[in-house]
Amino acid sequence: MKRLLALTTAAFTALPLAPAAALDAAPGTGAGGTHGTVLDAAPGAPGAALDGAPGAPGAGDPYFPDQGNGGYDAGHYDLALDYTPSSNQLDGVATITARATQALSRFDLDLVRTLTVRSVTVDGAPAGFTQDGSELVVTPAAALPSGQGFTVVVRYDGKPTYVLDPDGSRDGWIRTNDGVFNANEPQGAMTWYPGNHHMTDKATYRFSVTVPDDRAAVANGDLVSSTSRGGRTTYVWDARQPMASYLATVSIGKFQLTDTKIGGYRVITAVDPKLAGKAGGFAARHAPVLSYFSSLFGPYPFSSTGGIVDHEPNVGYALETQTRPIYPVVPSESLLAHELAHQWFGDSVTPTRWQDIWLNEGFANYAEWLWLDKTGSKTLQSSFDAAYSKPADDPFWQTPPADPGGPADLFHDAVYDRGAMTLHALRRAVGDSAFFTILRTWATEHQYGNADTPAFVALAERVSGRSLTALFDAWLHKPGKPAL
Ligand code: TRP
Ligand code: ZN
Repeated sequence: MKRLLALTTAAFTALPLAPAAALDAAPGTGAGGTHGTVLDAAPGAPGAALDGAPGAPGAGDPYFPDQGNGGYDAGHYDLALDYTPSSNQLDGVATITARATQALSRFDLDLVRTLTVRSVTVDGAPAGFTQDGSELVVTPAAALPSGQGFTVVVRYDGKPTYVLDPDGSRDGWIRTNDGVFNANEPQGAMTWYPGNHHMTDKATYRFSVTVPDDRAAVANGDLVSSTSRGGRTTYVWDARQPMASYLATVSIGKFQLTDTKIGGYRVITAVDPKLAGKAGGFAARHAPVLSYFSSLFGPYPFSSTGGIVDHEPNVGYALETQTRPIYPVVPSESLLAHELAHQWFGDSVTPTRWQDIWLNEGFANYAEWLWLDKTGSKTLQSSFDAAYSKPADDPFWQTPPADPGGPADLFHDAVYDRGAMTLHALRRAVGDSAFFTILRTWATEHQYGNADTPAFVALAERVSGRSLTALFDAWLHKPGKPAL
């Protein structure tokens, strides 16, 4: 989490990313011929129903316009990956089950060109494909009717690397001295597997990752098996609840793996032996935090929990990878609470647009305050007061959390601290009972889904029976220090 770990933005070389592809990009660049064009698909045009139209190359998010794709909805990813840390060689087979949401002549998956695609099939038949910037453009042999389920198999290989984000941080496939620190918020998923990588398209996952016997591969969800053959071990993980791409992880290295049942939770941890001395009791620290948050926010939403502690001093942040956050150090109590709170706010309930990121960070920051208060290390009011004490002319107050302005300010302090202060202001306005009903209802109504700021405001007004426009305007939308 940004404010607790010094973020290094040293001279890492950026992976060259293609310039933003226009959302209205002209069709016709796909290999294997283009059956439909946008004009063909005009209502009533002859051939539209048969041939379909290309799916959009982006989901239309103003912060990351190319991210995600239109025209289909991914339901399940089966990722079979073979990785050798010493050479950084990745060989992958991605089997993606999806459904067409329009008659589809062609569609995109997000994948950087660092990886080379060898073949693509759609429902078993060879499909045309090209790699255009970070878009893998697939043209099935026959157009897919709207509503049809289909299976895409992509074979690819290469030596993956990370992306450099607009805020100067790295995400994606980040090599360590013994493997990979794999954190993918906001853009990293396209550095290691093809998919529909905007957070609005959630899917379930199976990971089958093969690594040398002296390494482990740790992913999201439940460990199903680990099988050694010929000096290499295959780890199989099932992420059974829907997940956004940016929350996926396949982290690889020398790890001490534990898989235990503690306090009713299946806790799976992976700790780098270099940090093992500092990580005593790591697995046992999860249940108390999760049961406190369950009492406030509703049941823990996933079938297992745990964490990955991987020595990587240059990353500078932790991430709430679903079910199993990844940390570059042994987490403090507040960092542990932060990433575990994200399992409700961010992972189970995910924003609809990147500008709504305060729904993740403001909530997780507030949950840190709640945990520090509960455990007696700092009262909630003093956490609020410390954040609020910044003078009115501090530039901090110029950034409204509900739209920090662009991708370079995605993780601005205001998103965290002012986001958390917004929740405290709401609590003071509506009272404890309505406030926690709002949080629980938010987590329940949008479980495994996506929601945006207007939906949260509407819920708060519905539960409290009050108009809260002035409060949210002052705290979320307008620059300037809100009065108490
Ligand atoms: N979501 C992370 C958290 O737990 C923050 C994060 C992800 C981040 N990527 C980042 C922060 C890059 C700073 C820079 O708060
Ligand atoms: Zn966070």
